[in-house]
Amino acid sequence: MNKLISSLLLIMLCTGTSAQRADYRVVPLPQSVQTDTTKCFTLSSGMTIAYDAANPEVARTAMWLRQWVSDAAGLTLTLAPDDRHAAVTLALVPKGAAKGKARRKAAPVAEAPDGAEQSRYAISVGKEGIRLTAATAEGLFRAAQTLRKSLPIADSQTAWQAVECPYATVTDVPRFGYRGVHFDTARHYFGIDVIKQYIDLMAMHGCNQLHWHITDDQGWRFEVKAYPRLAREGSVRRQTVLGTNSSIYDGVPHGGFYTQEECREVVNYAAQRYINIIPEIDLPGHMMSALHVFPELGCTGGPYQVMERWGISDDVLCAGNDDVLTFLRTVLGEICDVFPSPYIHIGGDECPKVRWKNCAKCQAKGRQLGITAQEGRTVEAQLQTYINSQMEQFLAGRGRVIIGWDETLEGGLTENAIVMSWRGMNGGIEAARQHHRVIMSPTDYCYIDYYQTRSHWGAPLGIGGYVPCSKVYSLEPVPEALTADEQPYILGPQVNLWGEYVAYPEHVFYMLLPRLDAISEVQWTPAEAKDYDDFRQRLNHMLRLYDKAGITYCHTIE
Ligand code: ACM
Ligand code: ZN
Repeated sequence: MNKLISSLLLIMLCTGTSAQRADYRVVPLPQSVQTDTTKCFTLSSGMTIAYDAANPEVARTAMWLRQWVSDAAGLTLTLAPDDRHAAVTLALVPKGAAKGKARRKAAPVAEAPDGAEQSRYAISVGKEGIRLTAATAEGLFRAAQTLRKSLPIADSQTAWQAVECPYATVTDVPRFGYRGVHFDTARHYFGIDVIKQYIDLMAMHGCNQLHWHITDDQGWRFEVKAYPRLAREGSVRRQTVLGTNSSIYDGVPHGGFYTQEECREVVNYAAQRYINIIPEIDLPGHMMSALHVFPELGCTGGPYQVMERWGISDDVLCAGNDDVLTFLRTVLGEICDVFPSPYIHIGGDECPKVRWKNCAKCQAKGRQLGITAQEGRTVEAQLQTYINSQMEQFLAGRGRVIIGWDETLEGGLTENAIVMSWRGMNGGIEAARQHHRVIMSPTDYCYIDYYQTRSHWGAPLGIGGYVPCSKVYSLEPVPEALTADEQPYILGPQVNLWGEYVAYPEHVFYMLLPRLDAISEVQWTPAEAKDYDDFRQRLNHMLRLYDKAGITYCHTIE
C-alpha cells in the first residue's frame, strides 16, 4: 500500500504542473529521446555540477551550464568538480560509450570535416541524477545545450524551487557535418558584440560554421595591414540609398571595419563555442570598395566609388592585370593569418563579364593562357576560373580549401573547390556529380533576407521574396537526383542573411529567428524524424527562451 501511495505521489510529482518539468524534445530534435514519465529526478537549488576540472574546455562548459540553468529555470547550482554524488555530471568517456551510431558516412574525400561525429553525446537521467557523456569536449557542450533547452522556463520574478527531470536516455549526433549560417556585415557594419550574439544563437542551435561576408561593393570591412587605406577608405560609403533603390539618399556616411585583433577575438569566441569562422573575400566581382581605393586594379582605371545603392556592379577586378593577383594573395594571406578556418570563401558570384570582354589586358591574358571559347564556356568565364585556380593554389600552400558560389561552375571548377549552391539546387547537383563537395543554400529555402511573412504590413523592409519558417523547415538538402555515391558530397545546408536592408541588431535577430530554429532541425535531425507540426509545438519553448533573454524574433510564424 505504501509503495502504491509513493508511486502515485511520484507520478503526481512527475506529471504535476507541466511548466516545472524538463522536456528533452528540444530544437533541434535529438536523434533519440526515450523517456520514462513515471519517474523523475528532482533538480533543485544548492545541488552540484561535477566535471573533469583538468580539462579546461569541459570546465568552461560546466560553468556555462550553471549559468544557463540559472537563466532558464532560476535554479542555483554549485560547481563541484569532484563531487561523486553531484546532481549533474559532465563526463568524457571513451569513444563509443556515448551510444548511438552516426547515420551518415563521412564524405569520401580525405579532408572532409567530421563535424558530425565530434558532436555526439548522450544524456541519461536516473535516480543518481543527470549524466552528460561524450567522447569529446564538443559533445559535452552539445549535451549541455540540450539540457539547457530542456528545462522549464521560470519567469523573471519567480524561480522554480525544483525542476522535475523525467528519467530518460537521450542519444544524439547531428545528421550533417557542416551546419552553416551566413552573415553579411559588409552592406551594414555591426560591431563584434552583435557578431558574438549571433554566434551564441548559432551555438544554441548546434550550428558549427559561420560564413562571415566581410567585403562587398558597399564596404570593405577587413583590416589588411599591407594596405592600410583599404579598410580605412574602402569601408566608408558617403551615403545610402533609401528603400529598395529609390532615388533618395540618406546623406549619412556609413562605415566601420574589423581590425585583425577584433577578428581574432571573434575567432576565439566562436572556437570556444565549437564554431569555425569561414571568412569570405568576394572576388573578382563585388569589389567596388577595393576599386575605390585602388582604381588601377579595374579594367577602366576608374574612378570608382564605394557603392551607395544595392545591386551588381559591371566594374570588377581586371583579369588581365597581374597586380590583381598580387593584391588578392596579399589580402588572402592576411586572412589566413587571422582565420584558422580550413575553408576560405572566395565568392565568385555575380561577376559581370562586360568589362573583360572590352578590356585589351583581359583579352590578351585569355590569349596568353590559350583560352578559347568552348561549348557552354565563354573565354571570360574561363578567365574567372583562372583567377580561382591561382587563389586555390595560393591557399592550398597555406593548407586551405576554397569555397565558391555556384557561378564558379560556369568556367569549370578548380580541382578541390567546394561549391555553395544558391541559385537553386542544380549547381550543387552538378558539382556533386563532378565529385566536388557542396553546401546547399538555395534561395527559395535558405535566404533569410527574404520576407518571412506573406503580409508585409508592419514588417521591416526586406529584399523581397517569401521564405517563411515552414519553407526553411521543408528543405531536404540531399537531392534524390544524386546517386548513393554522390550524396555524401553534400556537406550540409546553410541559411544566408544578406545585409542590404538589415541595419540594426533587432532587425538582424528578427530575420534570423525563428528561421534559425527551422534550419537547425534540417541540419541536425534525421530527415525521417522531421515533422513541422511537432517542431512548431517545440518551438514555443525556444520563443519563451528568447523572450526571457530579451532577444527580438519574428512573432508571425508561417
Ligand atoms: C548571392 O546571393 N549573390 C550569392
Ligand atoms: Zn581587364
